Amino acid sequence: MIECYRSDAIKRMNRPSRLALAVSKLENGKYNVITLGWFMHTSFEPPMFAISVAQKRYSYELLSKNRKFVLSIPSTKMGRQVMKCGVISGRNLDKISEYNIKTQMGKLSDIPLLKDAVVNFECKTISQIRSGDHTIFIGEVKYSWQNEDENLKQLLVIPENENYKVLIKNGRYIFGTVGK
Ligand SMILES: Cc1cc2nc3c(=O)[nH]c(=O)nc-3n(C[C@H](O)[C@H](O)[C@H](O)COP(=O)(O)O)c2cc1C
Repeated sequence: MIECYRSDAIKRMNRPSRLALAVSKLENGKYNVITLGWFMHTSFEPPMFAISVAQKRYSYELLSKNRKFVLSIPSTKMGRQVMKCGVISGRNLDKISEYNIKTQMGKLSDIPLLKDAVVNFECKTISQIRSGDHTIFIGEVKYSWQNEDENLKQLLVIPENENYKVLIKNGRYIFGTVGK
């Protein structure tokens, strides 16, 4: 082992890494989508997921007010949408209509599922914990959904090498999938 900068170690740890989207509700009946790298499964019984959202994000305000969200795992059909939802704020833009994100009604609330995702989880927020400049929202899964297309591949943050297929690049982010 050689000591290194934390940023270099984190870069190495995260290639490849999974991505998620969280859909939250605006007061005007519209919805916002944020791209997340920081999310995890935290309990089997009851089933729970945690997502970590910076306090400066618009999604933080929405998640704090409306105690429900949809956690969505994007497919390779969603590369551009995931990139855009990860660099543009929904404060002044309706990302769902601007980026043509297909939705479908769920069962828990009026917050929609993302139709081109691999899976969607409808969550009820049961607690939140401040963690430095981010807040961890813990959601209990009430309903789970999977795409009818079983061959749909998951979108990943990937290293640029021959074992991964690059789908979209933007600055330091490269999204793609496993294999050619
Ligand atoms: C690959 C990737 C992963 C990201 N992961 C997170 C994350 O885990 N938490 C977070 O708060 N922001 C994360 N971001 C940044 C937000 O997605 C971005 O700031 C977004 O524009 C915020 O949207 P909003 O202001 O509409 O909520 C990530 C961005 C990218 C591209």
